[in-house]
Amino acid sequence: MRDLIIAIDGFSSTGKSTLAKLLAKELGYIHIDSGAMYRAISLYALENGMIDGNQVNEFELLPQLEFMDIHFELNPDTGKNEIFLNGENVEEKIRAMEVSSKVSLIAKIPEVRSFAVNLQRKMGEKKRIVMDGRDIGTTVFPNADLKIFLNASAEERAKRRYEELLKTDTPATFEAVFQNISERDHIDSTREISPLKQAEDAVLVDNGKLTPQETLAEVLAIIKGIS
Ligand code: DC
Repeated sequence: MRDLIIAIDGFSSTGKSTLAKLLAKELGYIHIDSGAMYRAISLYALENGMIDGNQVNEFELLPQLEFMDIHFELNPDTGKNEIFLNGENVEEKIRAMEVSSKVSLIAKIPEVRSFAVNLQRKMGEKKRIVMDGRDIGTTVFPNADLKIFLNASAEERAKRRYEELLKTDTPATFEAVFQNISERDHIDSTREISPLKQAEDAVLVDNGKLTPQETLAEVLAIIKGIS
């Protein structure tokens, strides 16, 4: 099989990362969760007091971007490619509700997006990559070999994220998670730069009623068809 770039886009908590991780493992590819990069930058801004309510202090944050070391390392125990921010493994910290509730504010800043997109393109230079996010098929890799757009209802997605949070000692109610997902859907799909939308040549996969393994099988069948 030739080397591929696979882009997986979709709304929050559609299981993009789960699918991307399983797919990367199956194909022996690298998995990059691009959302984790926006979350890491949000964590940095929060920890350094650069976010006040809905106001991001861009004046302080933007000059710091070029000094930020964001990279991924495979954790052999979990099989997950985990994110590091300035040398610290922040894979768990970036999933906290506090970060989730601010990340859309960070992800809509043009300079933050171009910083993240440049890093993402570098990571894809050698192909053999599965990258998930919102604008991977539309902006980061418009020539990706395969583009998948994952979808599921907001209720189904909130249920999944809530159950994920329960496993990590991160306090949250189902209502708060549902509200956060609905707000992010709105901000992500209406922002000016790279709004979330299905690329014209993306394949739509609705996994609302599918298990991760069933979703994987459906996508592997699509890959068989193109390679
Ligand atoms: O997939 P996630 O929930 O971890 O993404 C976190 C936030 O980052 C989400 O609000 C959308 C944003 N994001 C983005 O704008 N572009 C991407 N490629 C990935 C995520």
